[in-house]
Amino acid sequence: MDSVLDAIRRRYACRSFAADPVPPELLQKVVEAGLRAPSGRDRQPWRIIAVTNPERVAELETAGLEALRQLDPKGHADIVARGGRLLYGAPVVLLVARLDLPGKGTEIDTGVVVAHLLLAATELGLATCPNRMLGKLFQTDQGPDFERRLGFPEGFEYGLGILLGYAAEAPRQPHQPDFSKFIEIA
Ligand SMILES: Cc1cc2nc3c(=O)[nH]c(=O)nc-3n(C[C@H](O)[C@H](O)[C@H](O)COP(=O)(O)O)c2cc1C
Repeated sequence: MDSVLDAIRRRYACRSFAADPVPPELLQKVVEAGLRAPSGRDRQPWRIIAVTNPERVAELETAGLEALRQLDPKGHADIVARGGRLLYGAPVVLLVARLDLPGKGTEIDTGVVVAHLLLAATELGLATCPNRMLGKLFQTDQGPDFERRLGFPEGFEYGLGILLGYAAEAPRQPHQPDFSKFIEIA
């Protein structure tokens, strides 16, 4: 089995997924890794919502693209240039919803969850891509309705999406570490 360090080296943002479904037992392991993330005061200010139904994923894709077109024309143009698929054909979309507690840093807590999810999925041979762009959907008039139908509890908002599945192509090289961004004070 791969170590965490191997998964860290291999993880990359996949932008082309195969249609093959994610086996439920793998999804369960990925989600469990997310739920094991540490959080300030152990608040666990998150929900992880797995969207696995192809029709629901397609609906998110269509509505998300339209939201992007309205609210972020440049982002929309980037997606069109990449083939027009906001979710890159991923069979599963994990939505990490965040409890908005001003001043408590819950964005950081949910970021740690995201890291756990990405690395666990990589270790299990799955491909991933974080997705902020889908968040535009929740800023439109349709946002509250989507939040309700997706089971966001009261007070929770979109933190980040993670696209999950098997890569359709050979893995791409992730960005390489830039050690000029590291400072050691002896
Ligand atoms: C918070 C966050 C949001 C991101 N949102 C998107 C996104 O909406 N669409 C996308 O294609 N990639 C998205 N990415 C992936 C980054 O573009 C990618 O991680 C970065 O280019 C480095 O490439 P690598 O992950 O392959 O090393 C996001 C990454 C992070 C951490």
